[in-house]
Formats: sequence, structure tokens, C-alpha cells
Amino acid sequence: MSKGNKGKDRREQGDSRSIWIMISAAVVLGIVIIAMAVQLVRLNRQGERNKSQIKTEASVDQKKKNTKETENPAGTEEPEEEKIRVEHIRKDLDPEKPMVALTFDDGPYDRVTNRIVKVLAKHDSRATFFVVGNRVERYADTMKNAYNKGNQIATHTFDHGDLSKMKKKQIRRELKRAFRVMKKINGENPTMLRPPYGNVNDKMRQTIRIPMIYWNVDTEDWASRNKDKILSRCKSIKDGDIVLMHDLYPSTAAAVEKLVPKLRKKGFQLVTVEELFYYKGIDAKGGKVYFNGR
Ligand code: NI
Repeated sequence: MSKGNKGKDRREQGDSRSIWIMISAAVVLGIVIIAMAVQLVRLNRQGERNKSQIKTEASVDQKKKNTKETENPAGTEEPEEEKIRVEHIRKDLDPEKPMVALTFDDGPYDRVTNRIVKVLAKHDSRATFFVVGNRVERYADTMKNAYNKGNQIATHTFDHGDLSKMKKKQIRRELKRAFRVMKKINGENPTMLRPPYGNVNDKMRQTIRIPMIYWNVDTEDWASRNKDKILSRCKSIKDGDIVLMHDLYPSTAAAVEKLVPKLRKKGFQLVTVEELFYYKGIDAKGGKVYFNGR
């Protein structure tokens, strides 16, 4: 290559280089402009979406407000009964004094349960009722009255079926039905179960999520149906005992009418199972069996 040619070549090279630089710059600028435009469109859309979201929320709020107003028209108050919120654990019990938990299975039954609830209330006492779900609607007032007076309402299943003979699925269904019918009336689910026939097996322990409450004093009231025999079974009641009875028999009510003042005179505090466990420091676990509060 000659010298002159070299100079021409260099000039030509320089020209083509600047053309390429200009093209590249134009392309980059174009890309930047397109990217900015896309970003602008996106922001704009988002803004509109936010606006419409705010609008929807506002209209939902308005709707809520409207329903509230129709549900509870100005000036009307909810019935007094609805406001009762029972304190499950009394704070004025004396942990140093003996406690006993009377428990009643197979009810509610108005003419027996109401007598028991009445004598308990008169003596500043409470008990636990393990109700059968299929009786709950028929004796709703009786159960609600017991609940409102601070007694513990626990479950004895829906149909008093033998859970130890059931599959897990059946156990769950049985308890679900019992929970539903009780919640409808008491506004809350039971937190303890007494298994019918006192039967329990591993399948139950694995499936049932609330504690299972047994007893350590059996009055056999269902067998004797005799007030004095029931009372004689209660002679050796000690601190922490859980006593089994059934609010189905007038003889049981008659015995309880004697037993409650008698135990109070002896210095016993008559408590729910929940209270007993609370004051005795027992942290009851789902699927476990408890016989007393010691
Ligand atoms: Ni029973």
C-alpha cells in the first residue's frame, strides 16, 4: 500500500466510524425513548387501577355501613340476654381451701337440671354439665340458664354413641355436630369431653382435640336412683375430686340439694372442672384423659 492511499483510507475509516457512532447513538436514544414511553403507560395504568380500587373499597365500606344500619336500626338495643359474657374462671376462689367438681352427664333435662342449677347458685357454687347434643335444642333454655349462671357446659357427644367403636371420621362428625348445636346457643364451643360409657382408645386420643374428663368418685346415681345412697357415696369427697352424676333423675336432684350446702359447710368450694384445673395448675391437653384435679 502507498502512503497516499493510507491517508485516504484513514479518512474513509474515520467517516464510516462517525456514521456508526451516530447510528448507534440514534438506536440507543430510540430504545431509551421507547422504554420511557412504556414506563409512562404502565404508571398511568397503575394509577387508574389504584383509583378504581379505592373506589371499590369505599363502596364496600358503604355497603357494610348500610347492612349494619339495617341490622341494627338506630335506637334499638340488643336484648339483655345476648350481652351475657360468662367469666369462666372465678377470681375470688381460695386456692388454699378444698375444691370439688361435681359433674352431670346425659342432660340437659329441665326438671332435674334446673333444680341442680338453682341450688348451686344459691350456695355460690358451680358445676360442669356434660350435655348430649341431641337434647340441646329441646332443652335450650335449661342449658342457657346453666351457662348464664357460670356453670361449665361441656360435651358428652351428639348421640351418646360409643366413640371407641367408631372410625376417626365418625368421631370427628359426632363431635362436630355436638359443637355446632352447642355453639348456636352458648355462643362458644365446649372445651372438654366426657366420653360416653367411659370408653377411650388410641384412635380417640389421636383424633379428639379437647381433654377427656373422667371422674374418681362414682355416685352410681343411675343405678340406685336413691337420694340417701347417692349421698353416702359422697361422704368421703376430698380436695380435687371429680364426682360423676347424671342430671336425668329427680333422686339425683334431691341428693344434690342436700349435698351442696353440706359440702359448703365443710369448707369446700364447688367449682367447674375448668376452675379446678386452673387453680390446681393442671394444663389439660387435647386427647388426654383426666380423672381428678390432683
Ligand atoms: Ni352418659
